[in-house]
Amino acid sequence: MLVAPSILSADFGNLARDVKNICDSGCDLVHVDVMDGHFVPNLTIGPVVVSAVAKAATKGLDIHLMVENNTFFVELFAPLKPEYISFHIEEEKHPHRLIQKIRSLGIKPAIVLNPHTTPESIEFLLKDLDMVLLMSVNPGFGGQSFIESVIEKASRLNEMRNRLNPNCLIEVDGGVNDKNIHDLKEAGVDVVVAGSYVFKHENIETAIKSLQV
Ligand code: DX5
Ligand code: ZN
Repeated sequence: MLVAPSILSADFGNLARDVKNICDSGCDLVHVDVMDGHFVPNLTIGPVVVSAVAKAATKGLDIHLMVENNTFFVELFAPLKPEYISFHIEEEKHPHRLIQKIRSLGIKPAIVLNPHTTPESIEFLLKDLDMVLLMSVNPGFGGQSFIESVIEKASRLNEMRNRLNPNCLIEVDGGVNDKNIHDLKEAGVDVVVAGSYVFKHENIETAIKSLQV
């Protein structure tokens, strides 16, 4: 299991220190939550701050867009050369076109599904994707509790991607901890995002290792 700590739960007064710390502690990706105050009722960070994160990070950035105007934000963050950019299928009229655009910028494209969105809704996009991110909380805030139905959704998506695109990773985001990690592994999940679990743990390295099952 790959682990992408979400910096939403970091200490923003010491952001570079915290980003270096998770990278030195063996995380696999750095998850960056971009919220615009429209698609979700919260507002986070833009390219100035994410550029500082990119400088401090020794692992690839996994940018999770929770915004209304996806294309605008893809263009804004592309110069920072993230490894992944993911956007919500619920907020995109032309997902196929946007996937091609992200790939043409040298970035791995990913799609995010909210808790109510079925994996079948992206069946015809799966072969063009590098990753699908399943939300296991409603997007907008860290520290919420895990929505159990994501386990069944991940199993269904796992069956679909094995058939249509075995190289496409499955990522789960929200409420992940050392209690639900084994069920996620069994369902076929490859990457987990963890914010409050990692940053509130007394030892960040122990927390990350406990999810790398
Ligand atoms: C929620 C974000 C998550 C969040 C996860 O909208 O997408 O990445 O930071 O935080 P935890 O792990 O605390 O649920
Ligand atoms: Zn996220």
